[in-house]
Order: sequence, then C-alpha cells, then structure tokens
Amino acid sequence: MPHPKNVFVTGATGFIGSHLTARLLQDGYHVKALVRRSKTASARERVETILGAAGAARFENLRVLEGDISLPHLGLSDAARAEITSCTEEVWHCAASLSFGPQNRAEIFRMNVDGTRHVLDLVKQLPGRRLHHVSTAYIAGNRSDLALETEIDVGQSFKNPYEESKCRSEIMIAGAHQADAIRASVYRPSIVIGDSKSGRVTHFHGVYAFIRALWTALERLRRHTPHLDFIKLPLRVLGVENQTLNFVPIDYVVDGMVEISRRTDSNGGTYHLSNPVPTENRFWLPNICRILHVEGIQLVGHGSFLKSPMTKLESLFQKQMAFYYQYLQGEPRFDCRGALEALNNTGIECPRVTVEFISKMAGWYVNFLNAGA
Ligand SMILES: NC(=O)c1ccc[n+]([C@@H]2O[C@H](COP(=O)([O-])OP(=O)(O)OC[C@H]3O[C@@H](n4cnc5c(N)ncnc54)[C@H](OP(=O)(O)O)[C@@H]3O)[C@@H](O)[C@H]2O)c1
Repeated sequence: MPHPKNVFVTGATGFIGSHLTARLLQDGYHVKALVRRSKTASARERVETILGAAGAARFENLRVLEGDISLPHLGLSDAARAEITSCTEEVWHCAASLSFGPQNRAEIFRMNVDGTRHVLDLVKQLPGRRLHHVSTAYIAGNRSDLALETEIDVGQSFKNPYEESKCRSEIMIAGAHQADAIRASVYRPSIVIGDSKSGRVTHFHGVYAFIRALWTALERLRRHTPHLDFIKLPLRVLGVENQTLNFVPIDYVVDGMVEISRRTDSNGGTYHLSNPVPTENRFWLPNICRILHVEGIQLVGHGSFLKSPMTKLESLFQKQMAFYYQYLQGEPRFDCRGALEALNNTGIECPRVTVEFISKMAGWYVNFLNAGA
C-alpha cells in the first residue's frame, strides 16, 4: 500500500520528533512542522540545525510553520491552518513538556493536555482525520501488575504530573477515536536512548542526565588526582538493585512507529515500544561506572541513610536527580506483544541490553562530554 506523503508534525526539534521527521523526509514525505522560534533563531533555522544532527540532509520537502501547541489553534494563522487542512493526510504529535516537578504541574498540563486537545481540534478538520500520537509507556504510573497495550486508566496513581498528563491526553484521544471523530494510533516508548548501531544521541534526557551529573562530579575530583585512572567516589544512590529500567534505542522507536503507522490495522491500536527485556539496576549502573572509570557507587535502600546520614555530595546528587531516583525504586512491567506482532518479520527488533550495548551507548556520550561538547 502506498504510504501517505503529506504529514504535519509537532515536536520536530525534540529527540523523537527530530529523528522521526528526518526519517519521513528521507522516505520522501512532505512534512509540515510546527516549531517554536527561540530568542536567537527563527523556527526554520532551529529545526534545520536539529534535523541535520538527526541525519536529514535535504529540506526542500520541509515546510516550517511557527506555532505553539499550548495556544488555541496551535498559535497558527488562519492561512497556515487552511494550508494544513487542505492537504495533510496524517498528523504526528510528538511535542510535549518532559518536565516532571510538581511545582510545574499547571504548565505540564497546559502543554500535554491542552496541547493535545488543540492538536485533536486540527485533526478533526482533516479529510482523513488520522493521528499518530507519541505517548509514553510510563502512563502506567505506579502499577505493579503487567500493563497492557489495550489499557489506559485502570485507576493507577502516578509518580509525577508528567505521567498523569500523558495519561490524561491518551484518555482524550481514545474518547475522540471511540466517538469516531478521529482515527488514532498511539505509540508508547519506554526510556529512549541513542542509536543502537553507533550509540550516538542528540538530546540528553533521562539516563544521560544521570551520566552527566556523575561525569561532572568526577571531573572536579580528577583535577586533584590527575594520575589516577579509576576514581574512588563513595556515593550511595537510592535505588533497588533488582528493579529495572526499560531502555529502547531511538532507531527502534522511529523504525517501529513508521512501520506500524503504515499498517492498515494500526488504526485504533496502541503499541508499547518498550524493551521486551528490561535491565536491572544492578546491571546497568556498574557498567556505566566502568565506562566513567569510577568505583564506589552503590545502590542502597532508605535504611542506609538512617544509619548514616547523607553526605553533601549525596544530597546534592539526590536533589538534582530527584526525578530519576523515583524510577530507581521500580517501574511498571510493559506488555509489548502488540508491537512485537506488528513488527514480526519486518527486521525491526529491539536489541537486548548487553555489556557491549551499554559500553556503546554510555561510551559515545562520555566521549562526547570529554571532547568538551
Ligand atoms: N525521550 C524519551 O525517553 C521519551 C520516552 C517516552 C515517551 N516520550 C514522549 O515522546 C515525545 C517526544 O519526547 P522527546 O524525548 O522528543 O522530548 P523533547 O526532546 O523534550 O522534545 C519535546 C518537543 O516538544 C516541543 N514542544 C514543547 N512544548 C511545545 C509547545 N508549547 N509548542 C510547540 N512545541 C513544543 C519542543 O519544542 P522546543 O524545541 O521549542 O522546546 C520539542 O520539539 C513526548 O510526547 C514524550 O512524552 C519520550
């Protein structure tokens, strides 16, 4: 079946959206991208730079429209909306706020819930009313049972307003789909990391912020002990050794979403683009420490800090990493059978997180930091 050629994308300057847009352009799609300008660069300048880093080389099929998802009509002019509704076959909604702090709750909901509502308003105006929505597997919140792709709200509580807002936007999309106002597919990646072949990454969320915080602390120590290969850093990290984090490489997420989006039966489907085998904390943390040439970092429970209070460094680390620490206590388990079935025999597979895999991913980023980038 020929795939649609005219798409509207939000979030094209973000991690997932930039790789997705680069891929769509490479496949010959005509892409209209809703992008914000910055203080120093126009929307077009921004997106071309970021898409270049994500591998796009040609931009003649890219049309950039300045806008903001949090505004009614996405902040687009009437002319821009008419241009979109006249020829767009599909909308990819990748834009979101990835803030987590409870103090930013109103802002997070404005971006993720109101923003999705504004996107839905647009999708309803399109002849095909087709939406591809990028959600997150972590809408499962604090669930301890297996989270199914067919489930959204089962009464779970959430670790933070980000998860809750993403769940709310999925509920809204499911409602619109059931009312036959749109035709939607929902993709739920887990924790997205760099490219599976090169380890290269363009945006530094999640585990990369964790690596960076460690790297920065180590750099300071290395100034005083330049002769030491491995640094001893007694740092207790609040986390449970046999709990897991679920890592998926960006190429698996993008290839998977694009492949699934082209299946006629994906309309109405939700797909966990998660790793079938999540990684125990006691596996990835020591391997990252090995790449960073640091010893003495250990996962501990609350009891450890009751016995001996946090050091200054530990409390600084915990404060900076407050969000990530939530996930080191445990995460939900994601059933990804729908995604695996849809990708069966396509050659698109999620790689296992092995020692080599972590060395490639963390190694690429540490080299990047060492190069002073
Ligand atoms: N990264 C992950 O590990 C991960 C995992 C699971 C799910 N997801 C989901 O995947 C999607 C993309 O995430 P990401 O990692 O690519 O995030 P990201 O790198 O932070 O990118 C977010 C994108 O949204 C745009 N955006 C935010 N607020 C906007 C607004 N008001 N108007 C217009 N654009 C706005 C940003 O534009 P600016 O450049 O102008 O800020 C950026 O392009 C999100 O829906 C997220 O929930 C991400």
